[in-house]
Amino acid sequence: MSVTNAQGSNRLDQRPEWQALAKHRDETAGTHLRDLFDADPGRADRYTLQVGDLHLDYSKHLVTDETLELLRELAAATGVFELRDAMLGGERINVTEDRAVLHTALRAPQSATIAVDGYNVMPGVHAVLLKMGVFADRIRGGEWTGHTGKRIKNIVNIGIGGSDLGPAMAYEVLRSYTRRDMTFRFVSNVDGADLHEAVRDLDAAETLFIIASKTFTTIETITNATSAKKWLLEQLGAGEEAVAKHFVALSTNAEKVTEFGIDPDNMFEFWDWVGGRYSYDSAIGLSLMVAIGPVGFREMLAGFHLVDEHFRTAPPERNAPLLLGLLGVWYGDFHDAQSHAVLPYSHYLTKFTAYLQQLDMESNGKSVDRDGNPVHWQTGPVVWGTPGTNGQHAYYQLLHQGTKLIPADFIGFARPLADLGPLAGQHDLLMANFFAQTQALAFGKTPDEVRAEGVPEELVAHKTFRGNHPTTTILAGELTPSVLGQLVALYEHKVFVQGAIWNIDSFDQWGVELGKVLAKRVEPALTEGADVPGLDPSTTRLVAKYRELRGR
Ligand code: F6P
Repeated sequence: MSVTNAQGSNRLDQRPEWQALAKHRDETAGTHLRDLFDADPGRADRYTLQVGDLHLDYSKHLVTDETLELLRELAAATGVFELRDAMLGGERINVTEDRAVLHTALRAPQSATIAVDGYNVMPGVHAVLLKMGVFADRIRGGEWTGHTGKRIKNIVNIGIGGSDLGPAMAYEVLRSYTRRDMTFRFVSNVDGADLHEAVRDLDAAETLFIIASKTFTTIETITNATSAKKWLLEQLGAGEEAVAKHFVALSTNAEKVTEFGIDPDNMFEFWDWVGGRYSYDSAIGLSLMVAIGPVGFREMLAGFHLVDEHFRTAPPERNAPLLLGLLGVWYGDFHDAQSHAVLPYSHYLTKFTAYLQQLDMESNGKSVDRDGNPVHWQTGPVVWGTPGTNGQHAYYQLLHQGTKLIPADFIGFARPLADLGPLAGQHDLLMANFFAQTQALAFGKTPDEVRAEGVPEELVAHKTFRGNHPTTTILAGELTPSVLGQLVALYEHKVFVQGAIWNIDSFDQWGVELGKVLAKRVEPALTEGADVPGLDPSTTRLVAKYRELRGR
């Protein structure tokens, strides 16, 4: 989609709305969050949004009503909502791969009609969900047994990128909803250590491998899956006939699955309109469904759908993904912020930021626009972070007193999970840190406040906190499957909004290809010392050193 501005140019940074924002940035430079709250204490009430179970507070941002209005004008001028409707309507908005982008169909109700090229995808979506549910129940109920007749107790998901990060993250997040009498492991790295550690203490007779790969050609996954098959057959002392009971596949590529030796009946299908990093609510979530059960999985899908509907229908002033996307543009493009921190105050969200890294950085780490022209503005930020309390004792020093502007999302929950028993008593302390940190980041501590504490003059500068660090607070009642779905959908659509504004294709990932091709080319140099044409002098020397150290 190409949108043209009043001057007949579609270059983003030449649009009047962009220039109005740059002017506004210059006019408001030097304004501190303390000034904004002094001038308008009511912003604490006004700058909040409720989306499903998520309460969003965006009052601690370097914005005023005028900033928000100007940002929304930019969104309108760049056609964000038109592109959203095109995506939801099944149009091929992934232009470089000529594909529709329909992860929202994965969580739409059965009664919905969503068509790609005139073909309603919803019956297929729900047929696969049903098949997954039957399978998950058979595993959980012990009806599906292994080759020797033993019940399956261990699930090993083998996949990488979107075929690993989503299910692995969601399994951790929803751990307290999982079958505690089963073992779930996630293998992704082609480093043999990953598979080795995952299976070394498992009984092969009780183990099921779920091979998750959209393309079923990804070298890491196929290598690990082949090794897993070898391990299993050796452990069981069985032939290929054992594979059917111990391997299932999640893929769009039935031909390759069959070639690998997995019965197509044991394949759970999805479609080319599901991007890898948007796929854990498709068949790619099978390991999660076995862990939390089909009912929990559907609750999670309902959470996704709730935010999809919010994104589709909420007016711009109340649209949470739009708001988060615009705030990111404000800092990245107008305040030179290079990164964005996501800091959950829940141990269960340990892998959440790693998941968002792929979602955001693989989607918006682009430097040409949808027509292939270089962009003249910043695109996706570096996304990083770990659970907040641990971060407080590691890198928060830089957040508080470093020289960089790092907008951050703080995610927390009012109620601890029942599972914690007496340890739930620690929750208030956890959350006291959650609230204290955003206050300290926003308001800091002035030199006068430091002096008033009797601090000697030579330490005043060291103990001063500049403040003015913007944060969004996302607070929910409790971490449930639905809340997880809501959170992920919120970030998915935020990423979408930014890609639409920057006029980039958020749904391709050509940047991962070159490394893959070169790795294939370099391998014979490592193993056989083969001459690899086109290898640069530095890499040639490193390969020689590697072979020497390897004793070859
Ligand atoms: O290398 C990047 C990537 O293509 C991701 O986009 C994708 O999630 C991952 O590899 C795995 O791909 P597949 O599911 O096809 O194995």
